[in-house]
Amino acid sequence: MNPQGIIQLHDEYRKRVLNMQASENFLSYKVRKALASDMASRYSMIFDQEVHGSFVHNAYGGTKYQEEIKEYAENKAREIFGFKFANVKPISGHIAAMTVLISLTEKGDKIMAIPPELGGYDGYSQPYMPDMFSLKFVPLSLKNMREIDVEKIRREKPKLIILGASYILFPYNLDEVLEVAEEIEARVVYDASHVMGLLPAGFQKGIGKCDAVYGSTHKSFPGPQGGIIFTNDESIAEKIERNLTWRTQDNYHTNRVAALAMALYEFSPVAKVYGKKVAENSKTLAQALEEDGLGIKYSPYYTNSHQILVDEKSLKEKFSLTPPQMGELLEENGIIVDSVGRIGTAELTWKGYGPEDMKEIAGLIIAVLEGESVRDEISQMVDKWDGKTIGEKL
Ligand SMILES: Cc1ncc(COP(=O)(O)O)c(C=O)c1O
Repeated sequence: MNPQGIIQLHDEYRKRVLNMQASENFLSYKVRKALASDMASRYSMIFDQEVHGSFVHNAYGGTKYQEEIKEYAENKAREIFGFKFANVKPISGHIAAMTVLISLTEKGDKIMAIPPELGGYDGYSQPYMPDMFSLKFVPLSLKNMREIDVEKIRREKPKLIILGASYILFPYNLDEVLEVAEEIEARVVYDASHVMGLLPAGFQKGIGKCDAVYGSTHKSFPGPQGGIIFTNDESIAEKIERNLTWRTQDNYHTNRVAALAMALYEFSPVAKVYGKKVAENSKTLAQALEEDGLGIKYSPYYTNSHQILVDEKSLKEKFSLTPPQMGELLEENGIIVDSVGRIGTAELTWKGYGPEDMKEIAGLIIAVLEGESVRDEISQMVDKWDGKTIGEKL
């Protein structure tokens, strides 16, 4: 089959399922149009300095509207997230993380982050970024997915503390971490890749006091795949900008920035409520699943975010399934989740599904785990959607 046919099959397939992967979200048609615009094959690199004896504003020509939309995206991001500086250049959350790391550390520095076994992002531990940048990684201790052990930080005296994780359910004890960081003169940054879309509704209070907040723009935030970095510190903003040119990347993909501008525009009217709706949906789903017989971790609080974590022990004991087997069974019935037992509500919330739908979906998930086929019922849930995201409706 030719590529066009394969792409069409993918699009048709994904239109007929409920996507509940915590790392993904739905792109409105205007955001997709921006990704496919002429900007997709254009360059732009603003210098505003002397290069080989002459003043250069932009290394490339024809960039007038690319510059205008980048400025729009940065202004809108600052306004929505409440930071003095926003940089939309990173082409991914990982590149944003690398850029922040090299901007705030020197070779040989000790960094602390949540380790993968507690849900942290693998990239911060050996053999990944710490090895690439000659940093020493020491794991943070985390209790109940929310309490960072500040005594360990006090003892270890790292130069940089990285909060945030791939499994993230609750806000952290950020004020205590900031207090210890001040005492030991460490910097604190927050990888908000997973909870970006939830921050404007107040998921993590006091986040503006971190030295930098950064992450992906496509998990709980309904934007194109990419990254963003925020800070309130001008000298950090300058370092980040410098490191994004010829160090962690070159071209920043201006169609992606145009799509991000469109996503920010559509997100803006619901920025303060979307995160609350997401958390309400997650909690309702967790509670209903547990009532129907599937254990969910951190009961009875479950989560304040877009993810819930299935209790593997309960899955094994009650349904004789592992998380990847659960994923396969659900996919056969038209519900997409990842293979690690994480269920996400960001995309369905962005499409306008609410708590009553979550209860219905919980019932369908349990039916699948019990071996029933619910393909038609899922199909009806898919058909319930009116084609507009909650951002487009306002
Ligand atoms: C906490 C965290 N940080 C960074 C990343 C990398 O993000 P991206 O896929 O945008 O590079 C991930 C990816 O899942 C993540 O979970």
